[in-house]
Amino acid sequence: MRIPIIGGNWKMNKTVKEAVDMVEDLKQRVGNIQDVEIVIFPPFTALKSVGEVVKGTNIGLGAQNMYWEEEGAYTGEISPLMILDIGCRYVILGHSERRQYFKETNEEINKKLKVALSSGITPVVCVGEKIEERRRGKAKKVVEEQIKDCFKEITLEEARRIVIAYEPVWAIGTGETATPEQAEEMHLFIRNLLKDLFGEEISQSLRIQYGGSVKPANIEELMKEKDIDGALVGGASLKADSFAEIIKKTAEISKISSSLRSKNE
Ligand code: PGA
Repeated sequence: MRIPIIGGNWKMNKTVKEAVDMVEDLKQRVGNIQDVEIVIFPPFTALKSVGEVVKGTNIGLGAQNMYWEEEGAYTGEISPLMILDIGCRYVILGHSERRQYFKETNEEINKKLKVALSSGITPVVCVGEKIEERRRGKAKKVVEEQIKDCFKEITLEEARRIVIAYEPVWAIGTGETATPEQAEEMHLFIRNLLKDLFGEEISQSLRIQYGGSVKPANIEELMKEKDIDGALVGGASLKADSFAEIIKKTAEISKISSSLRSKNE
C-alpha cells in the first residue's frame, strides 16, 4: 500500500518568524495524523528554526533545491551535506519554476537526483508539461522525456526511494487545477513508464503526487483517483488552516480506501 504524501512548497515566502509561527500552528492541527506523510519545504533561511519546531513530530522537513556537489567554490549554492546537517530529509528537484526561471535541465536534475539518493535524502522529482505542449498533444511526450532523462542511471534500489510530483505547469499558481481525469491519465502513464524502467513491483510502490492549485476544495476528488498518492501544494500550504485541511482530507480518503481494500481481501 502506498502511504500518501502531502508536501507544502512555500517557495520564496515567509520570514523566519512567519515560518515558525505557521509551523507551531500546523503542529497543533495535524500532530495526531498517522496515515499521511507530511513534509514542509520552507525557504533555506527558515530551515533551521522550522527544523527545531518539527523535530520529533510527524512533520518532515525538506529543502526546495540543492546543488550536486558536496562543497567547493560554487557561490550562492547549497549542498546536500548542508541540508542534511540542518535536519532536511527531503528535497524538491526540478520544480517547473526552477526549470523556467533558472534554466534547469533534465541533465542537471539527474545529477542532483543521484547525489540526493546517495546522501540518503528523499527526492521529490517534479515533471509536467506547459500549456502549449498540452495543446499540441505533446504532454505525454514531454513528461516521458523528463522522466527518462532525469532517471538515467538510477539503480533499482535507489529508485524505490523516489517521489514524483506531476505538476502541469499551466495549473501551478493559476487556480486552474487539472481535472481528476486529466491528472489520473498522466499518473497512470507515468506509472507505466516506471514499470518499463524499474519493473512492476517498484512502479506499484512509488508515490506520484499531483501538484497545481491543490486546495481543500479539490483534494478529495484528486485523492480518489487510483494513481494519485498525495499532493505537492504551493499557495494553500502557506496557511496552517488550509494546509491542515488538505492533510486531514487526505488521511480520511486513505483510511476509507485501505478499509475497502481489506474488505476485498
Ligand atoms: P500551487 O503550487 O499549489 O500554488 O499551484 C504548486 C507547486 O508549485 O508545487
